[in-house]
Amino acid sequence: MNKKIKEIIKKKNKSKIVSLTAYSKNIAKILDKYCDIVLVGDSMANVLYGSENTHKITLQNIIQHSQSVKKGIRKSLFVVDMPKGTYENKYISKKNAKLIMKKTGCDAVKIESNKKNFKIINTLVNAKIPVMGHIGYTPQFKSKFKIEGDTPKKANLLLKEALKIEEAGAFSIVLECVAPIASKLITSKLKIPTIGIGSSTYCDGQVLVTDDMLGLSGFYPKFVKKYVSLDRIIEKAVKKYTREVKLKKFPKWNNFLNGSRFR
Ligand code: KIV
Repeated sequence: MNKKIKEIIKKKNKSKIVSLTAYSKNIAKILDKYCDIVLVGDSMANVLYGSENTHKITLQNIIQHSQSVKKGIRKSLFVVDMPKGTYENKYISKKNAKLIMKKTGCDAVKIESNKKNFKIINTLVNAKIPVMGHIGYTPQFKSKFKIEGDTPKKANLLLKEALKIEEAGAFSIVLECVAPIASKLITSKLKIPTIGIGSSTYCDGQVLVTDDMLGLSGFYPKFVKKYVSLDRIIEKAVKKYTREVKLKKFPKWNNFLNGSRFR
C-alpha cells in the first residue's frame, strides 16, 4: 500500500485529518504545507465553471486541473474525484481510473456511492487503484441538498453502506451532510477514517471546498466557516490597480530599467 495512504489510516483515533480542495497549482502549493489530503473535487463544476451541479465535469476537465494541482504538491495525499458517468461499470471504471492515475500522478481516486457501486470499488482496489468512498449527500446522484442519517433507522442504513464500502477495500470515506448521530456511529464502527463535510466533529477528519472557506465562491451553507473574505481583498486590490492605471500612476516609467524581470 502507498506509504501516504498508510499514514492517513494510522491517524484514525490519534489525530484529526485535514483536507481541502484545489483545482490549480498556486492554491495546491499553499494547501500542501498544512493539509494531509488535497482533493481535486468535481465541485470545480460549481466553483470554477458556474454550473448548477457537478454533472457536466468531464474526464478531460478533471485531468487537466489535476495536472496543475500535481505541480503544487510535495507531501500531501493527492486524491482526484471520478466525474459522474466515468465509473458506470467495472470495465469503464478501471479504464478511466487508470487514465486519471497515469495522467495526473495522483495517489487515489474518489467515488460517490449510489448504494450499488461496491463491486466497482472492489474492482479498482484489486487493480491497485486506491479508492476513497463518499456517502451521505452525493451530488452526482442526489439533487436535494439535505441532512442524511438523522434518525436511528437512517443512521443504521448509512452505516451499512459505509461498511460495504470499507469491505470493498476503500481506504477512507467522505461523509457529506451526515447528521452527528450517524457520523458518530459510522466513525466508531469503521476501521478506515471518515472525513466529514458538514458532518460534525465526530469524523476522523474534515474537508471543505477551499473557495467556500476563503469567501470566494458565494456559496455558504451553514456548515461552511468563512475564514476570510478573499473576495473583498481581491476587489480592493483590483480597485487600486484600476485607479492607478487611470491616473497613470502605474506602470512607473522606470520599472523595466530597474532590472525587474519578466516571467
Ligand atoms: O467535489 C468535492 O469538492 C467534494 C468534496 C465536497 C468532498 O467531493
